[in-house]
Amino acid sequence: MDGPSGSGKSSASRGVARALGLRYLDTGAMYRAITWWMLEHGVEVADAAAVAGRAGEPVLVIATDPDAPGVTADGRDVSAEIRTGEVTAAVSAVSAVPEVRARLVAEQRAIIGEGDIVVEGRDIGTVVAPGAPVKIYLTASPEARARRRTAELTGTTVEAQRAAMARRDTLDSTRKADPLVMAADAVELDTTELNLEEVVSEVLRLVKERT
Ligand code: DC
Repeated sequence: MDGPSGSGKSSASRGVARALGLRYLDTGAMYRAITWWMLEHGVEVADAAAVAGRAGEPVLVIATDPDAPGVTADGRDVSAEIRTGEVTAAVSAVSAVPEVRARLVAEQRAIIGEGDIVVEGRDIGTVVAPGAPVKIYLTASPEARARRRTAELTGTTVEAQRAAMARRDTLDSTRKADPLVMAADAVELDTTELNLEEVVSEVLRLVKERT
């Protein structure tokens, strides 16, 4: 399941994993965890060579239980830290570095290789798992995405979120390495007018139809 932030990917993919008794992988959490580690170690995130040089260092472990997702970096639980504004502002730069992507994509493929999993991200249908039996691309209007994101955070406004998301979307979809694009064989699902239950049931219908 791919799509931009605020499209409802996380809630939908966890809901689908729960409904089908599958594992769940949040690949964005892996990019966020490596970004947290770079900031924690004083690496200048705008310096792609510096980030690339240390991309192999952190030991990341990600949980795949949809009811208990979480991630550790060098043994420290950073599940809360990866959601801060500081990490969110830096993650596009870190995730644009090819060495970071190569490392995380290899780890994602190893986890996916164990089977039975719902994976959410930006490049899952195009790069990480091009052979996935079901590919969904979630979208929503910029207004709906900004509203959802604002409801999850404190001390922000819909307008500020809309601007921050537009900036991140541009960075994520124009980067050279694995930009956010919809796979040719993905089904696009616009969630602007749908609630979570409706999104999950539509995805379950597609899964049934295609597997
Ligand atoms: O889904 P998210 O907002 O937690 O993702 C954080 C960032 O990680 C996002 O700005 C782009 C990057 N990302 C990526 O490049 N590839 C993925 N498969 C998942 C996330």
